[in-house]
Amino acid sequence: MKVIKLPTPQDVTNYLAQLIIKQIKENPQSVIGLATGSTPTLAYHELVKDSLLNNSNYENITTFNLDKYVGIDDKNVNSYRYFMNENLFNYINIKEGNTFFPSSNLTNDRFDNYDELIKLKGGIDLQVLGIGENGHIGFNEPQTNKETLTHKVKLSKNTIKNNSRFFDSIDEVPKYAVTMGIKSILNSRKIVLAATGVKKAKIIEKLIYGDITVDLPASFLKTHKDVIIIVDDNAGMNIKEKDYEKSKWNDIASSRR
Ligand code: F6R
Repeated sequence: MKVIKLPTPQDVTNYLAQLIIKQIKENPQSVIGLATGSTPTLAYHELVKDSLLNNSNYENITTFNLDKYVGIDDKNVNSYRYFMNENLFNYINIKEGNTFFPSSNLTNDRFDNYDELIKLKGGIDLQVLGIGENGHIGFNEPQTNKETLTHKVKLSKNTIKNNSRFFDSIDEVPKYAVTMGIKSILNSRKIVLAATGVKKAKIIEKLIYGDITVDLPASFLKTHKDVIIIVDDNAGMNIKEKDYEKSKWNDIASSRR
């Protein structure tokens, strides 16, 4: 696991955007795993900027979102489809038919056919992740085991409370979601996890220095051979200098000038 610490949240999102752009440039048919939430939003805006300024071609990429609420349809402003449309898909030349979300169709309990679809499309080349304050990735809450494929989950109280900031009231936050499992995530070829802000400092410290455990689902990332963790100064405040890489930041910073 490579840890990169950058000064500000803006630097983290720029770096994340550059990694995605590099992946797509190298392979215009890339399959990208996407997260929603506050952390990657500005990185998606950077992709939009890149598409406008450089005419970048997103026509042949395929995307798989990590998760989706149960009981919120795609037109709802709080749906993850709506989020992705508003922050990215509507402004780049991606084909709608190439953008996938796990099914939240309650009559179909075979959620793992999402994993079959991912496999059919060639597997995820680059998976983008945020991290919950409780260590969740996707909606894999603590106690999720590492063999899980896409499945339905009951959201923890902590996640419902955190996500209530996007809703008019906490009662409107769905209690269930469908998420790619830990194994689905670990099946990706490359993984990048971004975290910003003091609220993430404790969990990032545990992730870097702690054991691999179901108490911290993100810790399973340590079993994967190609993972980059990008943090800003605040989220990385408990990480010792010797434990992170600085050189890569210089590469990206100079490519932006
Ligand atoms: C969202 C997701 C979640 C978020 C995490 C951090 O699709 O999978 O795991 O990445 O809750 O959210 P933010 O970035 O809002 O702090």
